[in-house]
Amino acid sequence: MAYYGRIRLFTMLSLLGIANAAIQNTLFQRRPLVPQAPIPYQETYGPNGVTVNISTVYYFDQLIDHSNPSLGTFQQRYWTSNEFYQTGVCPESFNMSLDSGLTKLCPVGGPVILMTPGEVNADGYQSYLTNETVNGMIAQQQNGATVVVEHRFFGFSNPYDNLTSQSLEVHTVEQAVQDLVYFAQNVDLPWQGGDSVKPDKTPWVLVGGSYSGALTSWTMVSQPGVFYAGYASSGVVEAITDYYGYYTPIREYMPQNCSADVEAVISFLDGLYGSNNQTGIQALKEAFGVLGALAHTDDFAAALQGNLFNWVDLQPYSGGGQLFFEFCDALEVKDGISAGTSGWGLDHAIEAWGNYWNTTYYSYVCGTADAECNEVGYYYQNGPPEGQPAIVSRILQPVYQERLCVNYFPDKFSTPLTPAANAINAKYGGWNVNVDRLFFANALRDPWREATVSADGLNKENTTTQPIYESDGFHCSDLLIYNGVIDATILTVQEAGLAYMKEWLEAYGS
Ligand SMILES: *[C@@H]1O[C@H](CO)[C@@H](O)[C@H](O)[C@H]1NC(C)=O
Ligand SMILES: *[C@@H]1O[C@H](CO)[C@@H](O)[C@H](O)[C@H]1NC(C)=O
Ligand SMILES: *[C@@H]1O[C@H](CO)[C@@H](O)[C@H](O)[C@H]1NC(C)=O
Ligand SMILES: *[C@@H]1O[C@H](CO)[C@@H](O)[C@H](O)[C@H]1NC(C)=O
Ligand SMILES: *[C@@H]1O[C@H](CO)[C@@H](O)[C@H](O)[C@H]1NC(C)=O
Ligand SMILES: *[C@@H]1O[C@H](CO)[C@@H](O)[C@H](O)[C@H]1NC(C)=O
Ligand SMILES: *[C@@H]1O[C@H](CO)[C@@H](O)[C@H](O)[C@H]1NC(C)=O
Ligand SMILES: *[C@@H]1O[C@H](CO)[C@@H](O)[C@H](O)[C@H]1NC(C)=O
Repeated sequence: MAYYGRIRLFTMLSLLGIANAAIQNTLFQRRPLVPQAPIPYQETYGPNGVTVNISTVYYFDQLIDHSNPSLGTFQQRYWTSNEFYQTGVCPESFNMSLDSGLTKLCPVGGPVILMTPGEVNADGYQSYLTNETVNGMIAQQQNGATVVVEHRFFGFSNPYDNLTSQSLEVHTVEQAVQDLVYFAQNVDLPWQGGDSVKPDKTPWVLVGGSYSGALTSWTMVSQPGVFYAGYASSGVVEAITDYYGYYTPIREYMPQNCSADVEAVISFLDGLYGSNNQTGIQALKEAFGVLGALAHTDDFAAALQGNLFNWVDLQPYSGGGQLFFEFCDALEVKDGISAGTSGWGLDHAIEAWGNYWNTTYYSYVCGTADAECNEVGYYYQNGPPEGQPAIVSRILQPVYQERLCVNYFPDKFSTPLTPAANAINAKYGGWNVNVDRLFFANALRDPWREATVSADGLNKENTTTQPIYESDGFHCSDLLIYNGVIDATILTVQEAGLAYMKEWLEAYGS
């Protein structure tokens, strides 16, 4: 029974807040997340040899509810580095223009590069303060400072210390957008001169990846004039309720033998389901050991998605040994021999996949406790329509995910939640985004690509004020500088992003 509860939880992680869900991070990968990178050092030096500790936590008094400031504030965590920061040197003409009574903006210093890693505990993302990431490279190039701010309801940045329907009221995209704006406009950064770098004096650059890449676009669209420039990596700008496109790049780029065998099992399951063969379904579930206890076939189908979610964790530098490849090895390597392109076939696939779940994967999924919570999700990763190859079951449709939502928050959703995707796209532009100085970086092997401006068939216009670049990489690969060292297509994207930042920031105030 306890186990059953856990499965139900993880199948709805993209939907709503989860408190105390006993799920390890591997399954949070179904949410659009920025990759973590190793933190290269804890201490470095800023201007005048002052020590900068990038692990020091700072707190900002953030409004609980931007539409009702009288509700007060909560402590929002952030991290910052002024390693590369330089105050501006005002040109002589500035003093002269002051003498003549003209008001002219003297550049206070380099830009501030802000990012939230999105729906995750932000501690551990300090590499986004350093030049291991695009953020730090922009700062280094432009003598700017970097900031990482934690998203509301994650880590220790919680408007309320409980997760109730009341907290969900202020757990919205709009509040998250307003958090970024209010932070930029009000924060006094804790280093010399950091109290006078508000966006009215200093250019702020908003960087984001994945969901936070979407937030970058959504913020620049809905709150123009605050962030001077933006860099959105794998930004899932378009909310798509029935997001079966998630599995297309995975199916296309995963080892062929593995996709053939996964397709065989899924098609077998869907066939049993279609003919209402309960005996057959039960036997299949039992081949997966622990999953035999699941009462609902859709919960079983959802559990099988878990293995595919691990794809989004891949980066060019991953190599073997990653969970996704471990899964394919478990299916495809028999007695030390790898299957050919068409795999080993249904019988072996069921046995091997089942055994892998029962003996290995289950302990990853249900090993540790995790108290996290989620933004309302606008992307349900479902089975594809009939006629397309399926590596996840077609049993999984939006209505399944909506039902879970009702089960979990009965007081808030007495009937299935109507996905808010259309409203989000209307309000924040979605694929129709058209703003100045926003750089989009996407990647071919990214399962989230179909929700970005590089979606197949979209043919979004690529301009010099809103450039779009695409590498051969994975999810958010361009954010990590090391990926550019080993993949030239990623390097091209990074160099273009930095060149645009240089050009745009040089034009600031002119
Ligand atoms: C940097 O700050 C972290 C977090 O406060 C602390 O644990 C660490 O000891 C500090 N590092 C150094 C070198 O002082
Ligand atoms: C402009 O005025 C400031 C303050 O009065 C002074 O410190 C600075 O040297 C002057 N700059 C130039 C280029 O004259
Ligand atoms: C990154 O910054 C470090 C100082 O923290 C510097 O030594 C190094 O040269 C920089 N790397 C690049 C690629 O500029
Ligand atoms: C949740 O927290 C808020 C603010 O701390 C409080 O007003 C509310 O009563 C709490 N709700 C529950 C169910 O504990
Ligand atoms: C149900 O599926 C099993 C396994 O494929 C098969 O052996 C059995 O004949 C099927 N039963 C019916 C009634 O089709
Ligand atoms: C699943 O694992 C349990 C405990 O290790 C074992 O007893 C059981 O036979 C396994 N089931 C299958 C189908 O492999
Ligand atoms: C078959 O599977 C193995 C193990 O996962 C993999 O290394 C190999 O690349 C795959 N071969 C083909 C042709 O798909
Ligand atoms: C967008 O235009 C630039 C400049 O022409 C080009 O280098 C880049 O490859 C284009 N992006 C895409 C996705 O085609």
